[in-house]
Amino acid sequence: MDKRSFIKHASLLSLAAPLGFAHIRQAVANTEGKTAAQLAADEEFWLGIRDDYDIKPDYINLENGYYCFLPRETLEHLISHVRAVNYEGSYYMRTVQYENKNRVANAVAEIVGCTADEVAITRNTTESLDLVIGGLDWQTGDEAVMAEQDYGAMLNHFELVARRYGVVNRLVSVPNHPRSDQELVDLYAAAITDKTRLLMISHMINITGQVLPVRKIVDMAHARGVEVMVDGAHAFSHIPFQMRDLDCDYYGTSLHKWLSAPLGSGMLYVKKQKIDTVWPLLAERDLEPNDMRRLNHIGTHPVHTDLAILDAIAYQNALGLERKAARLQYLQHYWTSRLRNVSGVKVNTPVEIFRHGGIGNVGIDAMTPQQLAEALMGDYRIYTAAIDRPGVRGVRVTPNIYTTTEELDALVAAVEALAA
Ligand SMILES: Cc1ncc(COP(=O)(O)O)c(C=O)c1O
Repeated sequence: MDKRSFIKHASLLSLAAPLGFAHIRQAVANTEGKTAAQLAADEEFWLGIRDDYDIKPDYINLENGYYCFLPRETLEHLISHVRAVNYEGSYYMRTVQYENKNRVANAVAEIVGCTADEVAITRNTTESLDLVIGGLDWQTGDEAVMAEQDYGAMLNHFELVARRYGVVNRLVSVPNHPRSDQELVDLYAAAITDKTRLLMISHMINITGQVLPVRKIVDMAHARGVEVMVDGAHAFSHIPFQMRDLDCDYYGTSLHKWLSAPLGSGMLYVKKQKIDTVWPLLAERDLEPNDMRRLNHIGTHPVHTDLAILDAIAYQNALGLERKAARLQYLQHYWTSRLRNVSGVKVNTPVEIFRHGGIGNVGIDAMTPQQLAEALMGDYRIYTAAIDRPGVRGVRVTPNIYTTTEELDALVAAVEALAA
């Protein structure tokens, strides 16, 4: 490569080198060694973080679980990536597209302590997990285990493989308030037979916010020769964890949820030695059977989104995942602790600190989830999501790091008034 093309190449690659985020870096530098737990209760600090967001004033948004929209500066970076890629056109696509995507895989892998060659950047959790469910070499009579409280798209895909290959699905029902980890391990263990091939668990159940003891369930399943696939849609970038500590075989997540990366970004992790056991959804050219790229042939796609994942990671790293996790947990405890003992109100999320993150679910005995969600929005301008599922009737409340305790005071007052 001559000098001119080297400089050109280097500047295209540098699109994937996030700069900026001075405001949050300074805010964190000013915290003077406070621990994450101390900082979690420091409203002034979090009001500063709120300034990083453009927040719609019409309602209190307590439904971030669907999509954690971007802080202003990440959005600006995304827009400049759109411009830059549009300016370069095919030249970008043919020169550094894959190098940059590999940087993204590296950065995502670093968050969870695995290697980039075990990671595919996908569009979302649905693509990641359905790729595994649909890509295993199912034989008639094979069994899969999952929970009634798991996400619909995955349950649907298991139903599809049941119809297509004769797989038998066994559903357990996870209690909202387990007495112990062992109760949950036993629940899943009881559904395993000598035909079970795959067990799916949610790392954090999306409708209640309950965090499952993944490693204990994985150890039990592996001891019985069963692979484990984890739905991490809500756990990634919400609670800190390392993939090797979970020891699962497959893990899927959406980066547009708690990482606040642009819409349409996700991740699939497959343990290195399992990659060659999964059929790709879309055929890839001849690659080694254990090459993760085999599972990730998606054709031409919005590559500027990939680039902005790096910006989202830079923002999260500037804040620190430990600080973010502690704040989200603090916010959940802040409002649930005041509603747990109110007559006619039911909090559907476990109380133990290690069984929840920032998500909570609350119901009112005398109202359907839909009525409650509509009353909160209609009468109090509080936006939540109605959940009417087996064992879980209430509204899901998902604050984000820009949420204030004042907004949660409004939620508590509204639920108390509605229950009365
Ligand atoms: C537990 C869980 N799994 C999977 C998904 C699907 O995520 P996506 O629509 O980003 O693919 C969601 C979405 O909310 C979820 O909550």
